[in-house]
Amino acid sequence: LRVARTIDALQLDRSKTIAFVPTMGAFHEGHLSLMRRAKQLGEIVVVSLFVNPTQFKAGEDFERYPRPEAKDFAMAEAHGVDVMFAPSPSEMYNHPQTTIHVAGVSELYDGVFRPGHFDGVTTVVAKLFNIVRPNVAIFGLKDLQQCAVIGKMVEDLNFSLILSMEETIREEGGLALSSRNAYLSLSERALAPALHRELTGLRVAGPAGLEGAKKRLTELGFRVEYLDIVDPFTMHPPESPATVRHAIVAAWLGKTRLIDNIKL
Ligand code: PAF
Repeated sequence: LRVARTIDALQLDRSKTIAFVPTMGAFHEGHLSLMRRAKQLGEIVVVSLFVNPTQFKAGEDFERYPRPEAKDFAMAEAHGVDVMFAPSPSEMYNHPQTTIHVAGVSELYDGVFRPGHFDGVTTVVAKLFNIVRPNVAIFGLKDLQQCAVIGKMVEDLNFSLILSMEETIREEGGLALSSRNAYLSLSERALAPALHRELTGLRVAGPAGLEGAKKRLTELGFRVEYLDIVDPFTMHPPESPATVRHAIVAAWLGKTRLIDNIKL
């Protein structure tokens, strides 16, 4: 594994196919599965590790976000990552910095509850795409709306790369792996699989089950921000019975905000 802290140090062999996994570190099995996929899709695997300050709003968990850097490097090395791009904020950002706002799909759901979040994501991802210039970039479907927003950015701004969106990895009880699960207390951890259970229930119940699911989660102690059924490409209500649909949820357990989704 080669660690590049600056853009100049990246020095990628551009005669090879480059597969890129953007991350904020604190690797778990979900990240590792993206790295394995990258290994299949490219001759060189580049992973970025950058806890991007601009996608956290004031009062969110930017400061306490886990940063086990040495452990992350070792895990990446063990998974055959070739280059780790781990820049500082000053290497990434200018003042003032031009930003990217994706129309429409970034303005719903997490775009409402985390104002500015997606502008932070798309700006850093666009910069990373221009820095790394990958042939293929790999993202996890756990962040479903992020996938939709980046898909629209790539289309609208004519980025010349292929996106590969990968299935969510779950614990045995169904809880989606997330770096933020580290914040959960033991009792919250015991409750957290209810999110996936309620999403799964919507496979049978459909939209008529949304109110009941929200009520049960609330009774368990979740503060539900949204629970809905959407077209995963637009985040709008499914247009026809044939439209692919995902059930999506965001809910707080104590001081931890969890999101999840499943294909219905
Ligand atoms: O999904 C993430 O970890 C981040 O949002 C990303 C894509 C690395 C941008 O900072």
